Amino acid sequence: MPKPKIVLAYSGGLDTSVAIPWLRENKSADVVAVTVDVGQPVDLERVRRKAEASGATRAYVADARREFAEEFIAPALRANALYEGVYPLSTALARPLIARHLVRVARKEGAQYVAHGCTGKGNDQVRFDLSTTGLAPELEVIAPAREWSMTREDEIGFAQAHGVPVDATKASPYSTDENLWGRSVECGILEDPSVEPPEEAFGWTRAPSEGPDEPEYVTISFERGTPTGLNGRSAPLHELIAELNRTAGTHGVGRIDHLESRVVGIKSREVYECPAAVVLIAAHQALEALVLPRDVLDYKRSVEQRYSQLIYDGLWFTPLKSALDAFVTATQERVSGEVAVKLYKGSARVTGRRSENALYQTALATYSSGDQYRRQMAEGFIYVWGLPARTWAAVGARSAPAVVSPTRTRARR
Ligand code: ARG
Repeated sequence: MPKPKIVLAYSGGLDTSVAIPWLRENKSADVVAVTVDVGQPVDLERVRRKAEASGATRAYVADARREFAEEFIAPALRANALYEGVYPLSTALARPLIARHLVRVARKEGAQYVAHGCTGKGNDQVRFDLSTTGLAPELEVIAPAREWSMTREDEIGFAQAHGVPVDATKASPYSTDENLWGRSVECGILEDPSVEPPEEAFGWTRAPSEGPDEPEYVTISFERGTPTGLNGRSAPLHELIAELNRTAGTHGVGRIDHLESRVVGIKSREVYECPAAVVLIAAHQALEALVLPRDVLDYKRSVEQRYSQLIYDGLWFTPLKSALDAFVTATQERVSGEVAVKLYKGSARVTGRRSENALYQTALATYSSGDQYRRQMAEGFIYVWGLPARTWAAVGARSAPAVVSPTRTRARR
């Protein structure tokens, strides 16, 4: 019988490096490593060599930055996706993409299993497992870190015993995850939600108070709800996002301190840096406010909330996601134009918006000359609009007993 084959999502860190010999030993299998570049600071070639040095029979690397931006970030942005109103879902959005790459390689390699380095306490295991199932129900998922009970020290020992290269650099107290859409930070002192995150926890943003003393304006161009240009220059989305992360991060924009409700029932303290996401969502919302009717905006908000939750919950490859996408896409037909955002000491404020499709009409809105609004029609409108409330109030006044004092009520019984 041929050896089973496992396709492992490989980051190059300690957990996934240890997972390679662990899987070979405990599952008697060959391990194929897959590393996906979603914009994290990674030297793909170095990671590939490390995978092989750790015992992978084959190591794939993929630059998926464009794919991530266009197929995962863009739909989330069009839905203004923020989990619990604050988290732009950076980590959550990368998981289905990585799972899709695992599935592709598994099919190419004829593998029966995929594996990932997530522990049993987080959301990411849910996202990897469900994304894999949603794409390839025939594949089985293995999560070594859910099975082993090694401490960090144990892992280092295991690595050394199995010839896995261990980085000499001093381990940071924080656990981080980075991609184009943001950086997440957990562990260490952050586990005390009453304590302000120390400066050292941040990697992408300056402290707001340390931002430049002069504000900086950025202009985002949108076409059908998708950013296409920055400051008048058109750019592919993944490049635009990377540049905006640097610019907005310099001004201390995008820090998020969130007491988060995980899918697995745990409350956790999460710190994020998402400069581009914060700016782009604010700009996109501002443009929508200019071009979409009130009822569409209002209904879309409920869709956005559901959409954000399903991304968080790992349900990207599901029929509900596709159906909500169809709704969101339909709403974006006219969401084209430019939005100016002022970056200053931690804040990103929309200062101007413009669109050929603006529903804002000066002739209707103005309080100066040129007003075309037919104000005499307002009275009739209010009469009809208020008829239900008027009727209700009138009927209530007729049938309600006159004000009765508690003493009298009791006396009557
Ligand atoms: N709590 C965030 C989320 O669920 C961040 C998770 C970070 N993941 C990680 N492997 N460090 O999306």
